[in-house]
Amino acid sequence: MSLPIAVLISGGGSNLQALIDKVEDGTLDVDIRMVLSNRASAHGLERAKKHSIPTCTLSHKDFSSREEFDGEMVRVLKETGVEAIVLAGFMRIITPVFLGAFPGKIINIHPALLPSFAGAGGQADAAEYGVQISGCTVHFVDEKMDHGAIIIQAAVPATPGEEVQELAKRILQVEHRILPQATKWLAEGRLSVEGRFVKLAAAKVVSSSGSRFEANNDFICLINPPLEEGF
Ligand code: GAR
Repeated sequence: MSLPIAVLISGGGSNLQALIDKVEDGTLDVDIRMVLSNRASAHGLERAKKHSIPTCTLSHKDFSSREEFDGEMVRVLKETGVEAIVLAGFMRIITPVFLGAFPGKIINIHPALLPSFAGAGGQADAAEYGVQISGCTVHFVDEKMDHGAIIIQAAVPATPGEEVQELAKRILQVEHRILPQATKWLAEGRLSVEGRFVKLAAAKVVSSSGSRFEANNDFICLINPPLEEGF
């Protein structure tokens, strides 16, 4: 049975689209039961509707505390029967109210190589710092922001002085590969967490690909653990 999941967004939803595409091409076996946004204007809601995925908008501004907002999200999401949550550009800090409802089943994509440049604007912070390499991270969510155990990371070259949008675009391309891959591992029950360490169990069918260094269009990126076939 496909793992029933919800995807939480706040904006454009390109990572959501990457998940939808992998579900539709048969690479990723999850059932996206709901897309929830805290912003009514989030373009990702349109993407979901186009693929007949139920949507829900809950504005955090309508709640007097983070806990109250999270409590309502939990209520709505539990009604759909989802068992895991993918934060795909969801720009809210979540509280123990939400964490406790889906223990060990919430993952997040962050556009930097954690623990560097946590928080909103990871790409801009890295660009302003002048790094030569940035990247993206998918991690389990815990009570601290952008802090949980790391599932997969991709290193992406940066060019000091370039426009942040250029770096962000390059990172996003790789986000669209590592987030569906991590979601697949979660859905297959292949991830186990021991303290800060995430262990990935071997696939039942051994993949023939698995190069750590990949030519990704016009740049080289390092992805670890290596992507499996289809990503
Ligand atoms: C992505 O770059 C994602 O990593 C980032 O927001 C963007 C959403 O894009 N998330 C964070 O910064 C969370 N701290 P998308 O809506 O097109 O997927």
